[in-house]
Amino acid sequence: MFKIGNVEVSELKEKYGTPLYIYDENIIKQNINDYKEGFVSKNYNTQIIYASKAFSSLYMYKLVREENIGVDVVSGGELYGVIKEKVDPKNIFFHGNNKGEAEMDMALSYKVKNIIIDNLDELKIWAKKCERIDYDLNLMLRINVGVSAHTHEYIVTAHPDSKFGYYIENDDILESIELIEASKNMKFKGFHFHVGSQIFDMTGFTIAIEKLFGLIKKINRKISYLNLGGGCGVKYTEDDKPLSLIDFSKIIIEKVDSELEKANIKIDKLFIEPGRSLVANAGYQLYTINQMKKALNKTYYFIDGGMNDNIRPALYGALYSVDIANKMDAKKDMEVSIAGKCCESGDVLFKDVKLPKADKDDLLIVYTTGAYGYSMASNYNRLPRPAVVFVDGNNSKLVIKRETYEDLYKNDLD
Ligand code: LLP
Repeated sequence: MFKIGNVEVSELKEKYGTPLYIYDENIIKQNINDYKEGFVSKNYNTQIIYASKAFSSLYMYKLVREENIGVDVVSGGELYGVIKEKVDPKNIFFHGNNKGEAEMDMALSYKVKNIIIDNLDELKIWAKKCERIDYDLNLMLRINVGVSAHTHEYIVTAHPDSKFGYYIENDDILESIELIEASKNMKFKGFHFHVGSQIFDMTGFTIAIEKLFGLIKKINRKISYLNLGGGCGVKYTEDDKPLSLIDFSKIIIEKVDSELEKANIKIDKLFIEPGRSLVANAGYQLYTINQMKKALNKTYYFIDGGMNDNIRPALYGALYSVDIANKMDAKKDMEVSIAGKCCESGDVLFKDVKLPKADKDDLLIVYTTGAYGYSMASNYNRLPRPAVVFVDGNNSKLVIKRETYEDLYKNDLD
């Protein structure tokens, strides 16, 4: 039987049911430690910021607080969670294009310290609001360096016409810096970029750093902070060859150090913002195989979840590795497709995978599902979102309850 930590997944099914999201807490901690080890320089301070869009829950925010790393939030909902978990406002980095005014007010009332500005229009709203606050805001401008570090159209966030950030060639960057400099409570700290996700090859990333230094030279201002976003790839299948978190960090540090030396400038602090690579490989999804069916050419195993709890295969063509958790040593002599229970022909989560012959009530385990799984889940077909469980060695604990049918209708009015 497959184990997570020291806990057999059959025990987790007994206790919490399926479908189920399961995290190995110690893998998350190990990932954080790897970043802390690799992402250091003698020339400036460094900080890891967890991009919480990858997976957020109060328990995850607590872990982040205890590890004393930063946390990236992109919405009032994520902000509400970090405030509830009493994350230090100095460790909160508020991102997002088109931040709503209510979200901005919420951030200011909690004295969130770091704002990543997406565009001049947004900045003008902050400028007005900042006339009324009694603390300084650290601002970084998000720059679209026009380099994409990965090829999947939906995952890329930095091609020249991306909706995110200031395009590096545009004059509104300077105009924004001048607006910040003219304000009392807004401090211009530096720049941010995020060049893509699921990155294996650092070429695009290092070109992006060079381009950013071109901008730094051009604007001729003291730069205290640089935040280089997230993006480190993870291994979903055998074909994925990610860098270790330590190597990924070191390549960035070396490149920044060399650019700083070339430009003969100093910064105070360098940030990176990993999401996927902090949580993906710590996460698993567990399903029960209920029924099997032979179509004309394909054999299907039907599981008790579907695209509502993992949209990534349907949305991005994302691939995963799977096993039958109670038949880990059995021969994989079947080629099958695993389909969910949603009313949509695209709801085939794992296509043409090799697995042993299944029996009813076998358990399907899916690896590396910790990022953008729960956080992108929906209630399509009024399916309740599964529960989330964290395992720490011998112990498991429920961190998000399974939704009930009652939950699904709690906002409906008759
Ligand atoms: N920082 C910023 C500003 C971002 O936009 C993102 C991700 C990250 C950090 C974290 O990137 P990561 O380390 O996770 O690659 N839903 C897609 C991924 C979208 C990523 C969006 N931005 C997926 O499931 O693959």
